[in-house]
Amino acid sequence: MEKALQDVRILDFTHVQSGPTCTQLLAWFGADVIKVERPGTGDITRGQLQDIPNVDSLYFTMLNHNKRSITLDTKTAKGKELLTELMRKCDVLVENFGPGVLDRMGFPWETIHKINPKLIVASIKGFGPGPYEDCKVYENIAQCTGGAASTTGFRDGLPLVTGAQIGDSGTGLHLALGIVTALYQRTQSGRGQRVTVAMQDGVLNLSRVKLRDQQRLAHGPLKEYSQYGEGIPFGDATPRAGNDSGGGQPGRILKCKGWESDPNAYIYFITQAQVWDRICDIIGEPDWKTHPDYATPPARLPRLNEIFARIEQWTMTKTKFEAMEILNRDNIPCGPILSMKELAEDASLRATGTVVEVDHPTRGKYLSVGNPIKLSDSPVEVTRSPLLGEHTDEVLREVLGFSAQQIADVHASGAVDGPRQQAAE
Ligand code: COA
Repeated sequence: MEKALQDVRILDFTHVQSGPTCTQLLAWFGADVIKVERPGTGDITRGQLQDIPNVDSLYFTMLNHNKRSITLDTKTAKGKELLTELMRKCDVLVENFGPGVLDRMGFPWETIHKINPKLIVASIKGFGPGPYEDCKVYENIAQCTGGAASTTGFRDGLPLVTGAQIGDSGTGLHLALGIVTALYQRTQSGRGQRVTVAMQDGVLNLSRVKLRDQQRLAHGPLKEYSQYGEGIPFGDATPRAGNDSGGGQPGRILKCKGWESDPNAYIYFITQAQVWDRICDIIGEPDWKTHPDYATPPARLPRLNEIFARIEQWTMTKTKFEAMEILNRDNIPCGPILSMKELAEDASLRATGTVVEVDHPTRGKYLSVGNPIKLSDSPVEVTRSPLLGEHTDEVLREVLGFSAQQIADVHASGAVDGPRQQAAE
């Protein structure tokens, strides 16, 4: 076997970001992903945030690598007929339509399960069953309703959303795991099943440590939060904690040389207890190794602002890369704040395929994030995203076994609008 999922065929009904991240991962693992798009427009992201007029946007191209695209108007009788045929030929249907869309299209789970009892039907919705189940959801709504926003930002500022797409891409990752798990179970049960992930649930799962802190609050203040050292009382919910470390090892973002003009001249510094003595030596405070106010982690907790201010005096004398090198020599955990520009130019990320250059027929070369999950027996070659309807005829021919005449009839019905391919015979 050359690719882990090479015998798996996915009927990809996803759009925008959450669902496409999931099916892109499955495609990278070798699945044949057939993206079904609405004739004319296709996935709405093709036309959103376009940097080059009339060329598929980076938004679309960076989320839909290694897929095939067919157009199908699933609201027409012919479209429904073709969709039914495709369901019979696929292993997994993935969708992230708004609530009730698949039902309105005429394909509730019970119907799909009858059409193909082995088909796994995987869905992303904004919310699970409950008061909000009928609501549409986008990334930042999920960040807000899943607990991330209330715990991100500074205590005295607004709730903040993060640039990491934990609502969309995070939920896509959860769904991908659900799908491969259902595929594995099917090898024994022979049956398909439903896999559902709500974006709110996915974000809450990623915000798990903040629900931990919510419960710790009942037993006293959260001593690793800066506000404890500042003497500010805690309320009844997990507060925003700025850049305080979420773990048991206090950390902060500290200025480095050049911070006055470079918005990313900072480093994340963790005062890991195991290396405290070495930290004291490096910053020039050897007495702190034995001083009762600084020598132990509990003694340090009320003094974190003072301690980090002192460490920052040292980091400000170094660039973030110099600090990284010096601190790592002594095994002190730290990380420079890397800009997207720096990441795009990072040679090691290029070498591992985490950042890849892809060639596209209408856009030319562009950078993308490749597969961050590395399988030693399932290599990944990132190929460009498909043009709208590029594979309509190919899929009708290869997957449904249609003749040239049947393909011509499908085009005549108006259910598809992909480019007619002469190779239809
Ligand atoms: N042929 C014909 N009609 C199609 C079609 C096709 N190939 N593909 C989609 N449609 C139709 C649907 O049938 C639906 O019609 P209906 O409302 O008349 O039943 C319509 O397109 C709209 O679908 P919907 O998914 O509701 O799109 P939207 O643009 O209104 O909403 C979201 C977008 C993302 C808000 C919504 O899909 C959603 O909440 N998804 C779940 C959560 C999610 O994944 N959010 C994050 C996205 S990154």
